[in-house]
Amino acid sequence: MAGAGALWPAPPAEASEGLGALAWKSGILFGTAVDSGRLQDAAYARQVRSEARLLVPEWEGKWAALQPEEGRFDFAPLETLIDFAGRHGQQLRGHALVWHQAMPAWLTAALASGPARSHGALIAHLDVVLSRTAPVIRDWDVVNEAVANPGGPFLDQTPAVGDLRDTPWLRALGPDYVHLVFRLARERDPTLRLTYNDYGLEGDNPFAEEKRRRVLRLLRRMVEAQVPVDALGLQAHLQLDEPFRPEPFAAFLKEVRGLGLAVLITELDLREAKTIPADLAARDALVAARVQAVVGTALQAGCRTVLTWGLSDKDSWLVRDKEVARRDGAAHRGLPLDAEGRRKPMWHALAAAFAGRAG
Ligand code: XIL
Repeated sequence: MAGAGALWPAPPAEASEGLGALAWKSGILFGTAVDSGRLQDAAYARQVRSEARLLVPEWEGKWAALQPEEGRFDFAPLETLIDFAGRHGQQLRGHALVWHQAMPAWLTAALASGPARSHGALIAHLDVVLSRTAPVIRDWDVVNEAVANPGGPFLDQTPAVGDLRDTPWLRALGPDYVHLVFRLARERDPTLRLTYNDYGLEGDNPFAEEKRRRVLRLLRRMVEAQVPVDALGLQAHLQLDEPFRPEPFAAFLKEVRGLGLAVLITELDLREAKTIPADLAARDALVAARVQAVVGTALQAGCRTVLTWGLSDKDSWLVRDKEVARRDGAAHRGLPLDAEGRRKPMWHALAAAFAGRAG
């Protein structure tokens, strides 16, 4: 019918269902990382409200935010997110109890001064944080990024002990520190879901293959030693310069699930290739295809929780953070909404994956 578009213009994006509602129809929980400081921005808050059913603090749950000085806890930024989630019927997950980044200076010093002091600092943090957040946060990234990166074209790091990354935690508490943190968390909250979270596990190259082997070895040892680990979080900071094939990724997920662990996608976003097509539609199509392939594979392997690391290209660490931003001045288009908050092909790729359509 000629002219129908003019008479009935498309409804604004937020009037139609968001990804959270769409995913939920298939029993999938979809959410995003949120920065509490940005919630003042009405457009940002609207996106978070209408797209996400699950929130994760982008920085508010990290050690530097929660305990900037020894014994002085600051829950205000995290409470902002807890309030927001409560008002909009959204769930929250926690990130991250032990990580080698976002550590306050006092903690780095404490960890350097011996195992007894380190142990004490860890216990004090877990006691306060887990009891305070227990009513609303039922899933925490207990340890983040403990496995060393294989050498090669990426970061070249020699594992310090076994497959573990050389961190202040490893130096302070020894090679069993991952086991220790999970055990302490379980002692404090027997029904909390305890997740091990890491990156670089999705691709089809020697780096990802070796990283998968290392993570699998860690998880297998934990299960054998009856360390209470419930889930693997796949950060899924995807890179288009890395090849992807569903088969090796699916085989890995099957092994992880075979250990009795759940699998979550915790920080999905995508860095475009070094050289990008001039045409925006062509760029977005590449992003969407990769996202649909990776997320579709994970969902087929039993993953039931998917979070992106932000919603719009404007509010992304892929733009702010020098280490991951593009060097050619362009901005990565690796999130479901563009900088103006409009839905991109990646949004539709996620919707399709949630509806059961593989890429
Ligand atoms: C990132 C934040 O997005 C940035 O703003 C901050 O500067 C550094 O940390 N893996 C993780 C996240 O587990 O905590 C990181 O978040 C991104 C990589």
